[in-house]
This record gives sequence, structure tokens and C-alpha cells, in this order.
Amino acid sequence: MSQKILVTGGTGFIGSHTCVELQAAGYQVVILDSLYNSQKSVLDAIASISGQRSEFIQGDIRDAALLQQVFKQYQFQAVMHFAGLKAVGESVAQPLNYYDNNVAGTVTLLQAMQVADVRTFIFSSSATVYGDPQTLPIPEDHPCSATNPYGHTKLVVEEILANLYASETNWRIARLRYFNPVGAHPSGLIGEAPQGTPNNLMPYVAQVASGQRQQVSVFGNDYDTPDGTGVRDYIHVMDLAQGHVAALRYCLANEPELLTVNLGTGRGYSVLEMIEAFSRSSGKPVAYQIAPRRPGDIASCWADTRLAETKLNWRADKDIQEMCDDAWRWEGRQSN
Ligand code: NAD
Ligand code: UFG
Repeated sequence: MSQKILVTGGTGFIGSHTCVELQAAGYQVVILDSLYNSQKSVLDAIASISGQRSEFIQGDIRDAALLQQVFKQYQFQAVMHFAGLKAVGESVAQPLNYYDNNVAGTVTLLQAMQVADVRTFIFSSSATVYGDPQTLPIPEDHPCSATNPYGHTKLVVEEILANLYASETNWRIARLRYFNPVGAHPSGLIGEAPQGTPNNLMPYVAQVASGQRQQVSVFGNDYDTPDGTGVRDYIHVMDLAQGHVAALRYCLANEPELLTVNLGTGRGYSVLEMIEAFSRSSGKPVAYQIAPRRPGDIASCWADTRLAETKLNWRADKDIQEMCDDAWRWEGRQSN
């Protein structure tokens, strides 16, 4: 019997790619998603990639009665928790909605797990918890801070998980701090599908390359970086998905632990380098203009990846060209 994993937010960007990798690794996947920021058709795409249909429950992680029923119906080995809201600007405008979804929702989920005695939990945290980095690369013991409500929700949930582990040491918890996930499955069948104007660089660049938008605004060229534009640790979403499988395997094979791990490549690229790489992938020039800095942005951010390598035996191996090639293939399917 293969092991069953509950994946909240499994029809979303990172969740869908992780479901594919979980199935490839022999796990059975049950997806719980409200479809607030994703489409049901993603389930067909996952099935055509993996040859296996995931079970799907449309519902909200804040619905305690539903969760109780789901945990009664299935025996899960673990929960991977991707469901949540992630737009920084929106979190400033709607803080209560962010705390409700990301914090209260996670507490409701953890309570249901506690009752059902399912105590392995993989959490989507973010490099945003490092605030403005004091050292590069950023190790996991770097001080944490947040500058916006979204970042605070990640920090608060990390803290809740630490408190939970301190009170009940039979939990296996991984707090995975993602750097900048980009790219898509190489089939072009699943990828990132932002609604409205993309907030993040790569989906915006893809829409300029496909002719949906005129030009990218490069937010600042006067940072203390080699070309003056912001530097980030972009990680291919398939590498990230495999990082989740590695974390799950680690948690299930080892004694209970509260694990905190960076998932990044350990290398940073500038905005202009990413635009150039995308032009190469798409074969089209990507027009851009230099615009003022975006409030709250930092100059540079990249991960210290040693802990992921030693603990999880995992490292990201896809380069920016592969990230852009795969994102472009996905974009082509979207815009046709
Ligand atoms: P996404 O929006 O594509 O996926 C999230 C999914 O959760 C969506 O399918 C949405 O419908 C669902 N969802 C939202 N609220 C829900 C609720 N209350 N109940 C049930 N389902 C709900 O986002 P993503 O990029 O795949 O991000 C997944 C997780 O990773 C999020 O927690 C996000 O904060 C975190 N993260 C993302 C990034 C990034 O750059 N994409 C970086 C760091 C961390
Ligand atoms: N940028 C532009 N133009 C754009 C969009 C972004 O120049 O239209 C620049 C930004 O200034 C930054 C870089 O591109 O230098 C990357 O910006 P993103 O918005 O793609 O990503 P961020 O690093 O700002 O933030 C992302 C997620 C956060 C997460 C963080 C760390 O949006 O939620 O990565 O994981 F917390």
C-alpha cells in the first residue's frame, strides 16, 4: 500500500508540481483546494503527466468540520501545506484576510491533524522571513523579521510550529523557506497562472515576450549589485517540488524533529540577467524600461544551501535557461 499524503493548495503553482513529483515517487495524493487561485483543470493536467488521478476535495482549510470529515475518511501519513495567500501588496491592503487564511487556516489544519493523530507536516515558508539580509548567502540561523503582513503570516506560522513542537515532541515538522520559484513542468501542461497583472518578475516577463504586455518595468538600477538591478535566487519549480519529496522522505524516515531548511540554488541573478535569459528562450527581445525602486524591495537575496544538501540529500540542478525555456513553453500553451 502506498502512503497517502494530503496536499492543501495542490492545484496551485508549487502544489501542482509537487503532486506530480509525489506521484512519481510512489505516494498517493489527495488534494484539498478551494480553487480560490487555481483551476480544476489542473487536475487533468497532473493526471496526464503522471498517469494517475489525484483525489480532489474542493474546500477551505478554515472549514474545521470539513477537515474533520476528511481526516476521518482517509489515513494520511503526512500533510503538505501550500494553501494560502501570497501577494505582498494585497496583504498590506487586506491584512485580516491574510491572517485569517494563512494563520487561522493553518491553526485549524493543525488542530484537525492533532485530533486525527497525523503528525508530519511540511510547511511552505519563504525567504521573506529573512527581511533585509545581513549576510549572503543566507543561512537558516539568520535573524528573522518581516516588513509586510504576508511576511508576518509566514513568521507567525513558523513560530506556531516551533511552539507546537516544543509542547508535543512527537511531531515531524519541516519549515521550508523557498527562495524565488519560477519555471514550469517541462511538458508545458502545468505552470504559474497569475490572475490579473503579475506581481512577480518572471510571469510579467513571460507576458511581455508573448505580446500581452508592452514592456517590463525594472524596479531600480541603483542597487549595490553588479548591474544595479535586484538580485534573487531563482529556483526551478521542479527542483523545488523534488525538495519537498526529499523533505517528506527525511521526515518519515527519521525521529521527530523541527526542521528548518532553505530551498534555493545558492546563486543569484539580476533582473537584467533574467530578462536576457528569457529573450534567449523565447527568441524575442523583451522590452524594458528602468522604473523607480519598488517600496520594500531588497537589493540581493540568495540561499545558503548546505543544510538542504547534508540533511535532505537534495540540491537544485536546473539553471536559469532551463527555467526560462520551461516557463516559455507553458506561456505558449496559455496564450494560444
Ligand atoms: P498559489 O496561489 O498558486 O497556490 C495556492 C493554492 O492554495 C491555490 O490553489 C489556492 O486556490 C489555494 N488556497 C488559498 N487559500 C486557501 C484556503 N483557505 N483553503 C484552501 N485552499 C486555498 O501559490 P503558490 O505560488 O503555489 O504558493 C504556495 C505556497 O508557497 C503559499 O503558501 C505561498 O505563500 C508559499 N510561497 C510561495 C512563493 C512564490 O513565490 N510562489 C514563495 C515563497 C513561499
Ligand atoms: N521586479 C521588477 N519588475 C517587476 C517585478 C519584479 O524589476 O515587474 C524585480 C524586483 O524588484 C526584484 C526581482 O524583480 O528585484 C524579483 O521580484 P519578484 O516580485 O519576482 O520576487 P521578490 O523577490 O520580490 O518576492 C518573491 C515573492 C515573495 C517571497 C520572496 C522570497 O513574491 O512572496 O520572493 O521567497 F517572499
